[in-house]
Amino acid sequence: MRVLSGIQPSGRLHIGNFFGAMRQHLQLQHAVSLTGAQNEGFYFIADYHAMTSGPKPDDLRQNKLAVAMDYLALGLDTDKTVFWCQSDVPQVTELAWILSCITPMGLLQRCVSFKEKVAQGILPNHGLFAYPVLQAADILIFDSELVPVGADQKQHIEVTRDIAGYFNNTYGETFVLPKDYIIESVAVVPGIDGRKMSKSYDNTIEIFEPESSVKKKVMKIVTDSTPVESPKDPEKCNVFALLKLVALPDELAEWEKKYRQGGTGYGEVKKRLAELLIEYFKPYRQKRAGLEKNIDYVREVLKKGAERAAAVADKTLKKARIAVGLE
Ligand code: ADP
Ligand code: TRP
Repeated sequence: MRVLSGIQPSGRLHIGNFFGAMRQHLQLQHAVSLTGAQNEGFYFIADYHAMTSGPKPDDLRQNKLAVAMDYLALGLDTDKTVFWCQSDVPQVTELAWILSCITPMGLLQRCVSFKEKVAQGILPNHGLFAYPVLQAADILIFDSELVPVGADQKQHIEVTRDIAGYFNNTYGETFVLPKDYIIESVAVVPGIDGRKMSKSYDNTIEIFEPESSVKKKVMKIVTDSTPVESPKDPEKCNVFALLKLVALPDELAEWEKKYRQGGTGYGEVKKRLAELLIEYFKPYRQKRAGLEKNIDYVREVLKKGAERAAAVADKTLKKARIAVGLE
């Protein structure tokens, strides 16, 4: 089963990205599908997509490499998995154009993520509007069967299936229709201000930021003003929500009891949360530091990945070009 997913280098990856998406990507690369065949992972850094929010050129350049190092440090196995940077396989932009020409405007106008970004006050560019068509091209050009994404991306997979359906109906069977695989992960991971943790809200705890900074950020997590001695509701607490991700079940049950009994201050829980977060990612820090000193290796990995990806993309693109009459 071919499994494909992309992640935007729109900032440094944070623990919401890890528990909400990356952890499942890393697990799926080793999984065996129902037919008994080994999954074939195709994962990429969606730098063309990141452009839709107008990043500074230097930030984009650095974030791409940082995302690559994060994935490699956390255990992405490039023997099993094809891993590349989207813009190193520009064939997707040609397919996106071909798909654009059979995509009804109304389909894109209905996309919630576009509407949400406009509602947030972002001045939309054409790239942001056309974003789902490029995403469809990403998925279809690699004959992807399964696309693991967070619930926020479900509509984009449906749009992909619609576009593939229009194309196949108009020009004959060309594309595989992918299934989405909604990552029913942990609920949304809250940021230190209590909103969804997101690169765009400046409320993240990065996976690999310095340990001292992890501690500082954890201490800043917003809590209510219940006094130390009073009982507290763990389910309403941002600190507890993060603790759930990293504490073992027995320890978590202990903390839950302490919350409900009262007598435990948020400061105490935060201290333990910082320790656990640091411990959780510690085994990967050394590898991440090693990669930072060896950027050429990271670039080489991405280059080889792009070559493997391009070989697949070329074939599908050729089929599409012939189907529409470009060849
Ligand atoms: P961000 O909001 O930080 O820009 P993205 O939109 O690039 O994150 O998301 C990349 C992946 O990480 C998606 O699959 C998304 O569902 C997941 N993700 C992002 N933030 C969270 C969060 N706070 N909790 C759970 N999953 C998240
Ligand atoms: N839009 C996705 C996100 O923001 C990233 C992405 C781009 C993607 N192309 C993709 C995900 C193709 C899955 C498949 O999370």
